[in-house]
Amino acid sequence: MTSSRGATERAAARGLLSRLNTTLPQPLAAEWQAAFHGVPRHAFLPDVVWLGDGLTPCDRRETPGVWLRAAYDDAPVVTQVNDGDDPGPGGDRWPSCSASAPGIVFRMLAMLDLEGGERVMEVGTGTGWNAGLLAHRLGGSLVTTVEVDADLAARARASLASIGVHPHVVTGDGGLVEASGLDRIVATCSVRRVPRRWVTGLAPGGVILTPWESPWLCYGLLRLTARADGCASGRFHPHAAFMLMRGQRTSLRVFRDVVRDGQTPAGSTTPLSPWEVAGEDWAAGFSLGLQLPDVWWAWHHGPDVAGVRSRLWVATTDATSWAAVDDDGTAGAPFTVWQHGPRRLWREVEAAYHWWTGAGRPGPSDFGMTVTPEGRHTPWLRQPGHPVPRHG
Ligand SMILES: C[S@@+](CC[C@H](N)C(=O)[O-])C[C@H]1O[C@@H](n2cnc3c(N)ncnc32)[C@H](O)[C@@H]1O
Repeated sequence: MTSSRGATERAAARGLLSRLNTTLPQPLAAEWQAAFHGVPRHAFLPDVVWLGDGLTPCDRRETPGVWLRAAYDDAPVVTQVNDGDDPGPGGDRWPSCSASAPGIVFRMLAMLDLEGGERVMEVGTGTGWNAGLLAHRLGGSLVTTVEVDADLAARARASLASIGVHPHVVTGDGGLVEASGLDRIVATCSVRRVPRRWVTGLAPGGVILTPWESPWLCYGLLRLTARADGCASGRFHPHAAFMLMRGQRTSLRVFRDVVRDGQTPAGSTTPLSPWEVAGEDWAAGFSLGLQLPDVWWAWHHGPDVAGVRSRLWVATTDATSWAAVDDDGTAGAPFTVWQHGPRRLWREVEAAYHWWTGAGRPGPSDFGMTVTPEGRHTPWLRQPGHPVPRHG
């Protein structure tokens, strides 16, 4: 690898572009094709990236071909693990920054509906690639990008400068940044709550586009438009799973984080299979996440409990209430339930699930959200004015 704009890289980039033009719902608009060529993705990747489910390090200096293939694959490339503190081989690595998959990057850029002249703020600079694409399209003076991690922000600044595009790169928490008169706010980290300052930072008719997640399920894009009354309102759109915004993370991951010695849970049974709410059905999970915004779950397969094949744990993010539902591996109901804490969480899950089935099993795109300037969130079904019930 001798030149950052060599023939091999250009061929790899052309290959990716032709794949994107067939896999995306629409081929890239001419302006985005120009940006794709002018802002080469590989120029934004560090020499060491982490690949695959196992987050295996890949060093450009040792395996340049593998590294370049990753740069021009339609897949995310992890560029930082553990907030920059790689635990090394055998350690528990988790991704804290990635260059998002090109397909979702261009799908989101198309959803911004840019005509030229818009003032845009991106939250989550990461490698700087998306900010570079925006700056190529709009001009650097109209684009601000905010990154919470100072090392990542510095790297992105250098990468952007190396190819001659100059958006404003701000180091800070994009959820707290003071802004006003913005035409677009696009986040490339997911949120569980839309920061109030994004709503108040929009110009009339301005748009917020952000990946969404609840503790129950990480899924979807939320596109909100500023209304005359100061609220921002709009629908969810399919796909997308991004890393959660720093500042909204909760650290609970396994049931051992919530169950304490000496707790005596109440026992009962349920006809509702735990697999219905925490299985493959994303529509059910998405709806439960809107109705139970502070509840998460984790499976424990093969617990050391007689007669239990799999146990579903459900808990509040503040760890004050939990429930466990046991599947003994025989055909179906009833399932044994254990509940502890001030909230009867499994009863709430049942109520949320029955509301969803009663509403005709709506999918994520049937839902929307309205956020007030004070930060109050109201999820709705099909139209504003039909609020989704919330528990807790
Ligand atoms: C998926 S990466 C962004 C990809 C990026 N747009 C690109 O083109 O490479 C998510 C980024 O969001 C950043 N981030 C997380 N929380 C943030 C916050 N509160 N404010 C600003 N950036 C944040 C992370 O540090 C990470 O770099």
